[in-house]
Amino acid sequence: MKELRVGMIGYGFMGRTHTNAYKRLADFFPVSWRPALQAACGRNEEKARAFARTWGYARVETDWRRVVEAPDIDLVDICAPNDVHAEIAIAGARAGKMVLCEKPLARTLGEAEQMVEAVERAGVANMAWYNYRRVPAIALAKQLVDEGRIGKPFHYRTNFLQDWTISPDVPQGGAALWRLDVHAAGSGVTGDLLAHNIDTAMYLNGAITRVVARTETFVKERVHALTGRTEPVGIDDAALFIAEFANGSLGLFEATRYARGHKALKTLELNGAEGSLRFNLEEMEYLDYFEYPGVPGHVRGWRRIHVTNAEHPYMDRYWVPGLVIGYEHTFLNTLADFVRGLETGERVQPDFRCALQTQKVCEAVLRSAREGRWVETGVDL
Ligand SMILES: NC(=O)c1ccc[n+]([C@@H]2O[C@H](COP(=O)([O-])OP(=O)(O)OC[C@H]3O[C@@H](n4cnc5c(N)ncnc54)[C@H](O)[C@@H]3O)[C@@H](O)[C@H]2O)c1
Repeated sequence: MKELRVGMIGYGFMGRTHTNAYKRLADFFPVSWRPALQAACGRNEEKARAFARTWGYARVETDWRRVVEAPDIDLVDICAPNDVHAEIAIAGARAGKMVLCEKPLARTLGEAEQMVEAVERAGVANMAWYNYRRVPAIALAKQLVDEGRIGKPFHYRTNFLQDWTISPDVPQGGAALWRLDVHAAGSGVTGDLLAHNIDTAMYLNGAITRVVARTETFVKERVHALTGRTEPVGIDDAALFIAEFANGSLGLFEATRYARGHKALKTLELNGAEGSLRFNLEEMEYLDYFEYPGVPGHVRGWRRIHVTNAEHPYMDRYWVPGLVIGYEHTFLNTLADFVRGLETGERVQPDFRCALQTQKVCEAVLRSAREGRWVETGVDL
């Protein structure tokens, strides 16, 4: 087995989900590369050490440059806030490392374009962690679309709802709340939540060509955790947009952190002439499918597919039919596909160029909301 020596940047939420995937990859998937947890990097040395001890990294760094430059690292995995994605990815590519990066690819389209340029110029393997593509039920939805079971698509509707920033007493910025600081995050729910829905939508239903959006910042000022001062809030707290797809269908997107009672409700529905598909992250082992042609009226209805059979995407790698896998396996499935791409030479998606298309839609959404008009996305799929 070849070693895939990993340099992990960030020991937070994603640092843990990705590390879990590296550790379990060779247990579940027949791969010829075995990840080695070489270095963990974070700004707080004590926390980075604790993380490295818990998860089994060989050493700790507090400056990501030392990871990027290290000769014993093959792959740099960026699990840090959005404001450092571009700098680390570009340096990683220049150093000849494979680069994996969390979503959104960057804060802005300009940064994302530089990242694509850097990895393509260096010719290094790259991927963005839009992990929801690898929820087995969503991968099955893609299979049903590709099999022509939905027919001509008319509608795509999707949302991502949370409720954790409703209180005006929640500060912005700093290690814990960088998502509320526009300088660190780039945007609010558009880059954080909608980006996922946009990636999945274009995976299932093709390019989004035009959008018209409305965003809102409900809490206009918050104390900044680093300065202690009350400062304007620069992020979008909620974002809604209407989309036109290249295939002629219409899309409706909504994301917010102000939907009281929702922690991570994420749903999608696709309606076509021949059938419909429906998914809800809170019941992620199911895909609902409505089949129209050839089904007699008296038995026609929504079918609830328990996506746990060996015939279903990824499920032959896990347990027996009827038993479920979880959120963490979406990262394992993503990593398995990336490593398969290393073995076969296939460009596994979403690579940076693909993630750039989602960034274009995010940028168009924010611009449309600012200017109050339809905006062409320029998506090139
Ligand atoms: N795919 C998903 O579903 C998903 C979910 C959550 C977050 N994310 C993305 O993952 C990234 C990280 O988010 P998170 O929730 O893990 O954040 P987090 O706040 O939990 O962790 C961030 C980590 O980055 C480290 N860090 C910050 N600045 C750094 C620097 N300059 N150099 C080195 N390390 C630095 C911190 O020390 C911390 O360990 C973000 O881009 C976020 O959008 C994706």
